Amino acid sequence: MDLLIVGSGFFGLTIAERAAAAGRSVTIIDRRHHLGGNAYSENEPVTGIEVHRYGAHLFHTSNRAVWEYVNRFTSFTNYVHRVYTNHKGVVFPLPINLGTINQFFRAAYSPDEARELVHGLAGEFDSRSAQNLEERAIGLIGRPLYEAFIRDYTAKQWQTDPKDLPPEIISRLPVRYTYDNRYFNDTWEGLPSDGYTAWLERMADHPRIDVRLSTDYFDLSQPLNKRSTVGQVPVVYTGAVDRYFDFSEGELSWRTLDFEEEVLDVGDYQGTSVMNYADADTPFTRIHEFRHFHPERADRYPDDKTVIMREYSRFASRADEPYYPVNTPLDRQRLIAYRDLARGEAGVYFGGRLGTYQYLDMHMAIGSALSMWSNQLA
Ligand code: FDA
Repeated sequence: MDLLIVGSGFFGLTIAERAAAAGRSVTIIDRRHHLGGNAYSENEPVTGIEVHRYGAHLFHTSNRAVWEYVNRFTSFTNYVHRVYTNHKGVVFPLPINLGTINQFFRAAYSPDEARELVHGLAGEFDSRSAQNLEERAIGLIGRPLYEAFIRDYTAKQWQTDPKDLPPEIISRLPVRYTYDNRYFNDTWEGLPSDGYTAWLERMADHPRIDVRLSTDYFDLSQPLNKRSTVGQVPVVYTGAVDRYFDFSEGELSWRTLDFEEEVLDVGDYQGTSVMNYADADTPFTRIHEFRHFHPERADRYPDDKTVIMREYSRFASRADEPYYPVNTPLDRQRLIAYRDLARGEAGVYFGGRLGTYQYLDMHMAIGSALSMWSNQLA
């Protein structure tokens, strides 16, 4: 073995694929029973509808090198992501755009009129000197839109009143003064034609890549553990950086999600893939309906059943799956200490979202793995 990779998410798989293509023998271990980290998907058994196990995953990128690289393993559908939100029983388009504004104010403002209105409303606070998230948001988009679309949704995401959240959580709140409600601005966007798992498996499908699942790097009873490998073989580590150092500098905080999946006896529950619930009286943040990610599979999916998933957000404990870094000032201080420790760990390369304590979209995880391969490992 020339290289050990801990974690089979997109970061680890990209390193493995590049290393095998360059003639190296690679072993990947993952503590989960499946490949692919959080991008893993599987077909719901009753309906055959593809479900993203760890929350909806939409691929999008403007990075040509990443786009060309991923197209070696999968083709993409022409799916374009759009999100809607239910506020007081009325559905509005997101991100906030001219359609949202005109529907909310029951008006027919032109782009300039809407811009003037929002700027006027935003004058209540100077967003640059805001003391908390609420003041920052009102300083960006004004109180009415903030209270309708941001306040309660943010409170549900963070389980904290936005008045008690730091202003840095939002740097900008994009408002579009057109009717364009495309969610992403990237050049390329789509979903893998035959699903995420087929894509992930193709990346690992090489005679020089050995994959061992249900294998935890910190389990000393299995042969490829931290004690037996560090210093013996180069290691790319994509697990949590604080766990690697036994939490010596304190725990980094994360938010996690709980998913409630249900098969319903209707052909179409909500008419779209993602519906947010903006108000406080609905405990979940959004509902995914997976059939809508693949309208091109209509002839394969049942027309009398559908799969929905309600999503709830909360702070993670050590036993939960870490999803989004919380990034408090204390977290940032601890991260600096972990980075120093990581630099001193010869032959171990920390990468991916857990290894660097950073939210990374898939294209960013792949792009940063391609850079690590060519700059540090190749
Ligand atoms: P990832 O977390 O995928 O993989 C790390 C792997 O390491 C895991 O499989 C884990 O089991 C393993 N591991 C950890 N500790 C270990 C140990 N001790 N021993 C062995 N294995 C260990 N991106 C995007 O582009 N569009 C989107 O729509 C979304 N949506 C989205 C929703 C949600 C809810 C989340 C949390 C994330 C997204 N993402 C996303 C981001 C996407 O999931 C992310 O970019 C990739 O998962 C990053 O891949 P990594 O390999 O870095 O981590």
